[in-house]
Amino acid sequence: MTITIAVANQKGGCAKTTTTVNLAAALAELKQNVLLIDLDPQANASHWVGAPSDAPGMFQLLTTKVAATSLVMETNTEGLRLLAGSRNLATIEKSLAGELSVETLLKRRLVALESLAFDYVLIDTPPTIGLMTLNALCAAQQVVIPVTTHVLTLSGVAQLMQTFDDVKDVLNPGLLLLGLLPCRVDQRTRHSKDIVDALIKRFGKQVLEARIRENIRLAEAPSFRKTILQYQPNSNVAEDFRALAREVISLQTR
Ligand SMILES: Nc1ncnc2c1ncn2[C@@H]1O[C@H](COP(=O)(O)OP(=O)(O)O)[C@@H](O)[C@H]1O
Ligand SMILES: [Mg+2]
Repeated sequence: MTITIAVANQKGGCAKTTTTVNLAAALAELKQNVLLIDLDPQANASHWVGAPSDAPGMFQLLTTKVAATSLVMETNTEGLRLLAGSRNLATIEKSLAGELSVETLLKRRLVALESLAFDYVLIDTPPTIGLMTLNALCAAQQVVIPVTTHVLTLSGVAQLMQTFDDVKDVLNPGLLLLGLLPCRVDQRTRHSKDIVDALIKRFGKQVLEARIRENIRLAEAPSFRKTILQYQPNSNVAEDFRALAREVISLQTR
């Protein structure tokens, strides 16, 4: 069975792409068969794992009848494949005018990938609650919400949880919050620790055990088009993503 996980938070710059790419790579390292889906017109995730810009991918999957399997690309990581994002996703609402049930389009199109037998499908989303994020939340069984802990707005997290509940009510009753993921955790600052404590106080067991530490190597890795597991395999933050991958797998048997 394929587990589909959306990584979402309507806030920009909160480590969605960093989380999606490196969790995907860490799951692949654990011999999982993984598909990364990039729904962001900025296509940062696609570029990071080696796709040429504007490679055919999600836009074609959602707007044409081309065979879904033909759009799946290899990446620079073994066991990790990609459905690429591209700039034209920014105007997809226009291209889909007149389509019925546009929120469920991705879910319906992914059925054609069953033959590829992915263990995990990870979806990176844009920093807005637009049509692409709604498609991700409809297609997914689970959601991970990355939360940066160097600057935090608990109100922003609360707002996203509200959206999550609304989508659950209206579009996808089975949707499960896999957890909030504290990112950019800086153990040298009191502030970062206070924020993690506040998250736990407010959201309890909905906060994952894993922590992704602040590490400049993560910000450098995309320009080398290497995941952190390739770029700095022995770094503390590579270990953080491995721990996250193990936690995600263990949560499936809960
Ligand atoms: N653990 C981390 N340590 C250092 N920098 C990070 C970390 N996580 C994310 N960043 C940086 O934060 C910025 C936003 O991250 P990104 O994953 O692109 O967020 P989003 O996809 O939510 O917009 C990027 O410059 C990224 O390199
Ligand atoms: Mg992003």
